[in-house]
Amino acid sequence: MNIAVIGTGYVGITTAASLGEMGHRVIGVDIDTEKITKLSEGILPIYEPGVEPLIQQQLHEQTLSFTTSIQYAIEQSEIIFIAVGTPSLPDGQPNMTYVEDVAREIGKHVDSYRLVVNKSTVPVGTADRVKELIWQEVKARGKTVDVDVISNPEFLQEGKALQDARNPDRIVIGCQSEKARNMMTQLYEKVSAPIFFTSPRNAEMIKYASNAFLATKISFINEVARVCDKLQVNVSDVAKGMGMDQRIGPHFLQAGVGYGGSCFPKDVSALYSIGRQVQVEMSILRDVQDINNRQPYWLVEKMTEKMQGLRGKRIALLGLAFKPETDDIREAPSLKLIPLLLQAGALVLAYDPIVNMKVKDRFPDIILAQSAEYAIRYADAVLLCTEWEEFLKLDWKTVAKKMKGRHIFDARNVLPIRDLEEQGLIYWGVGRNGV
Ligand SMILES: NC(=O)c1ccc[n+]([C@@H]2O[C@H](COP(=O)([O-])OP(=O)(O)OC[C@H]3O[C@@H](n4cnc5c(N)ncnc54)[C@H](O)[C@@H]3O)[C@@H](O)[C@H]2O)c1
Repeated sequence: MNIAVIGTGYVGITTAASLGEMGHRVIGVDIDTEKITKLSEGILPIYEPGVEPLIQQQLHEQTLSFTTSIQYAIEQSEIIFIAVGTPSLPDGQPNMTYVEDVAREIGKHVDSYRLVVNKSTVPVGTADRVKELIWQEVKARGKTVDVDVISNPEFLQEGKALQDARNPDRIVIGCQSEKARNMMTQLYEKVSAPIFFTSPRNAEMIKYASNAFLATKISFINEVARVCDKLQVNVSDVAKGMGMDQRIGPHFLQAGVGYGGSCFPKDVSALYSIGRQVQVEMSILRDVQDINNRQPYWLVEKMTEKMQGLRGKRIALLGLAFKPETDDIREAPSLKLIPLLLQAGALVLAYDPIVNMKVKDRFPDIILAQSAEYAIRYADAVLLCTEWEEFLKLDWKTVAKKMKGRHIFDARNVLPIRDLEEQGLIYWGVGRNGV
């Protein structure tokens, strides 16, 4: 099938590459000319494992191309995916400008039946709104065109986006037209995942409710961890024991410094404000956000207490990305921890295997180290912020020798406590200090 994917960010580029891999001809569109130039040369402007070679292969086979011309992409395609950003507005609601701009552009250029698929995370009613905007533009040209607008929310996780796109747990399709349903079944025929067909409004809500639920699990275990911390209980064992219950499940029960990234914070606040619009105060989501916002403060308070103050202390901060295997720093916990540490008078030496200058521009007062080893040298404490594989494999004997102090703060609860303690290091996790 001939597909256009509008918006070539984390979701759009992964969608384009995976649909191409399934044998469809795909055109990626973006308003960012620099991005399109890079992509056309086979260079991925973001860090997402496995995507770059796939793009290079498909460019070579001429099944994938990139353009800044939405008109050209619309003319060439039967299915048009909208995968542009829906970031938070200051009041927590999603900014729908980009989606609406794309809808208008489609309306300006479409001249025969097209299936428009909303992949962006959008409020209930957006499929109808997009259709209305397309129609307005079509009507303004004195034409009538049949267009279906459906919802196909994306559930991929950055860092393993390709894997998730290839093997999703489920595909949710919100559509009411038989024609659209058949086209989507054909589109995904090579993916072995259950397809759940429902209404567009239901599909739109499924996405928000899923992310809000996962964020709730994280905030729940983080609050439990704070209690564990006071009672010498190890929250990792608590989560393990809980997760063995199939009704609970083991995922998203890892206590730490809180969730970040471009989705959970914005989707939780979007659902909360969507609820308020219809006079439903989702107080659970207010608490989820509060707990998450407080988590970095909790950790820095703990560091201050255990190190008898942070003034003049050298902190090696390992990991800046919001999670491993991505260069995304949107809402990353590291960006909340750095100002708190600086405010407390600490000297921050940060290292991340992928992220660098983006953070330096934001915090000129930190030192960006070229390696974990450099950051750790003479450090009073190490603070692990992102669980990159490289940090999990650190040789703690060497770390202990290079450091000046003994404290290791593990904001992700992933480090091997016993190995560290054997080297004379003092381990502090998030609710993980009970035996
Ligand atoms: N990032 C994730 O992990 C993830 C996962 C699931 C769902 N989502 C949702 O998918 C959507 C996209 O997220 P993302 O992280 O890929 O965003 P992103 O910010 O990485 O990319 C958005 C892209 O859209 C482009 N764009 C904006 N306006 C445009 C226009 N008029 N025409 C063409 N291109 C335009 C931007 O230049 C940018 O390249 C969001 O709604 C997000 O909530 C994201």
